[in-house]
Amino acid sequence: MSANSALHIAVLPGDGIGPEVMAPALEILRKVEATTDLKFRFTEAEAGANHYKATGKSMPETTIRLCEEADAILLGACGLPSVRYPDNTEIAPQIELRMLFDLYAGVRPARLIPGVPSPIVGADTRGIDLVVIRESTEGLFASMGKGTVSHDEARETMLITRRTSERLFAFSFKLAERRTARGRSGGLACVDKANVFKAFAFFRGIFDEVAQRHPKVKADHLYIDACAAMLVKRPWDFDVLVTENMFGDILSDLTAGLIGGMGMAPSADIGDRYAVFQPCHGTAPDIMGQGKANPTAMILSVAMMLDWLAEKHGLEGAVEAGERIERAVDKVYADGIKPFEFGGSNGTADVTKAVLQAL
Ligand SMILES: NC(=O)c1ccc[n+]([C@@H]2O[C@H](COP(=O)([O-])OP(=O)(O)OC[C@H]3O[C@@H](n4cnc5c(N)ncnc54)[C@H](O)[C@@H]3O)[C@@H](O)[C@H]2O)c1
Repeated sequence: MSANSALHIAVLPGDGIGPEVMAPALEILRKVEATTDLKFRFTEAEAGANHYKATGKSMPETTIRLCEEADAILLGACGLPSVRYPDNTEIAPQIELRMLFDLYAGVRPARLIPGVPSPIVGADTRGIDLVVIRESTEGLFASMGKGTVSHDEARETMLITRRTSERLFAFSFKLAERRTARGRSGGLACVDKANVFKAFAFFRGIFDEVAQRHPKVKADHLYIDACAAMLVKRPWDFDVLVTENMFGDILSDLTAGLIGGMGMAPSADIGDRYAVFQPCHGTAPDIMGQGKANPTAMILSVAMMLDWLAEKHGLEGAVEAGERIERAVDKVYADGIKPFEFGGSNGTADVTKAVLQAL
């Protein structure tokens, strides 16, 4: 923590709707500051497709240094489909940060907030409250920028390491234990494709080893394909899921869809020392600049940041502040706010104002 006791937050708004949802997140934090003993210092920095267009780099060295020095990193969203590297892939500093800072645990909660419509029949009465933990530094993404392409074939290689998997599973069991203490008891499932690939059999074997050290958590295995179907048919049966990077990328968008859409799904990329907090969604070029972006996912990511900072620095006030933000969001939806995202007429400003009032 910084010398003057203010929590130093690196703010990377990014591209598209990134800055549109970042502004409400900072307003929420200023309100927290005004109503608690917590103090924040925000430093904004460049990253993303627009920065690449201007400079030829996904982010400057100064952004990386800032992220290193800050107590936590808040990110909007980066990348634009129209801005690409010569190999036709996109500018993705959000993925580079995960690799640079060893942020192996991508925590993606999917909680259906009462009042938010789910496309799943029965979800309104049975509820959805699960977490996908996406390994975020290796798996298929370890091949990012390293694939080979010739006229006749393309290759990308998946990497699973013992070191990362052990830490990922230890983190996942700890989270499952914490949720069990709060009344959830669905356990932890390892989601893989161990029936076909040796790398996933290795991943599963390490999961089983770590499971032995956490006998209080019900440990289970699922194949990714069956898991996708079960998540749609009965999402209320799930508690915590842990999986490889690419599978987690896809599953966590699926679970965002279950709880109302991308604008409802927060996330945290957590390592042993650093963490980035950002919504699950991208830059939504189809709605950018129209005031239609739902800022809820970004606001809930701020609550996750406070929870993480609380644990890291023993800040009791930050736990309460995070919980207050969640309760304020719940109240706003219970009171009937309806973002454009699910057919309503409430834009970014309406949702922000309502959450600020409820805080
Ligand atoms: N973490 C990140 O920075 C991140 C993540 C995913 C995609 N991307 C990038 O974002 C760009 C767009 O990707 P995409 O279209 O596949 O995914 P996306 O998440 O940006 O959009 C998917 C759909 O969800 C909607 N949506 C997303 N966030 C919303 C919000 N807050 N409120 C209301 N609606 C919302 C969009 O309008 C769109 O219809 C691409 O350049 C991609 O590479 C970045």
